[in-house]
Amino acid sequence: MKDRPNVSLWSDISNAIKGELGGITGAPTKGTFIVFEGGEGIGKSTQAKLLKAWLEQEGESVVLTREPGGSDLGIEIRKILLSHSTGEISPRAEALLYAADRAHHVYSVIRPALAAGQVVIGDRYFDSSIAYQGAGRVLEPGEVARISRWATESLFPTLTIIIDLPAEIGLARLKSKDRLESQPIDFHERVRQEFLQLSLLDPERYFIVDGNKTIDQTHAEIITRVSEIGALKRNAREDKGNLLLRPIRAAGKAVKRAAPKKKAKTKS
Ligand code: TYD
Repeated sequence: MKDRPNVSLWSDISNAIKGELGGITGAPTKGTFIVFEGGEGIGKSTQAKLLKAWLEQEGESVVLTREPGGSDLGIEIRKILLSHSTGEISPRAEALLYAADRAHHVYSVIRPALAAGQVVIGDRYFDSSIAYQGAGRVLEPGEVARISRWATESLFPTLTIIIDLPAEIGLARLKSKDRLESQPIDFHERVRQEFLQLSLLDPERYFIVDGNKTIDQTHAEIITRVSEIGALKRNAREDKGNLLLRPIRAAGKAVKRAAPKKKAKTKS
């Protein structure tokens, strides 16, 4: 295991994320890209679905996707990454497999949707690699960030929503555990801390919500923040200076549908 002296480490990640280690090579995009991040069992997928319903209610065309496994190729990579039958994968190979999944996902799903003016909601993106492979596997987070920048041609989310919960609580919600979820508790606690540290690098891009709140409360907080995104149709329709006056209504029906569901396996 490697020592991770704080100062150089954080400036390195910060540089990698901000693109100071090379020019921005990604094609310009339109559209809005919102990503959900966090540890295990935090309710990410539920919130992503509720946000999709709300955005559609607001007149947006929305693509909900996930990593790993958001493309046909990605479905195959996902099986390798998460199946217990794969056995041990070296940390660097694991990081590269996630990056390969992401590269093809961005190329074949995310960029085309953004170019068509759609809102893309991602269930995990490159911050997961920094947290899981960087901090969890104790690779160098700055290097992992750089691999993702290359893989995505520097496609950054408009907004990254981190649902924060102590690892112990999230893991206790899972009914069964895949290869990553089966890692020891200190792995998952490192992952959580890394997400929190990442959010400090760019407070405008990251939004942290408390995973201990109810589904409805969390949804309400999320749509309040998302409604501030200037590129959304709801804001384009408004006079400048009057943006916050348009009422924000939760995707009420969707909340009611989602809340009582008890799944056999509680995914985040
Ligand atoms: P998934 O079943 O989709 O879990 P979750 O519902 O928690 O998102 O499995 C994704 C797993 O892969 C999860 O344990 C996090 C891990 N992961 C990484 O380790 N690195 C990555 O870059 C990504 C995207 C996911």
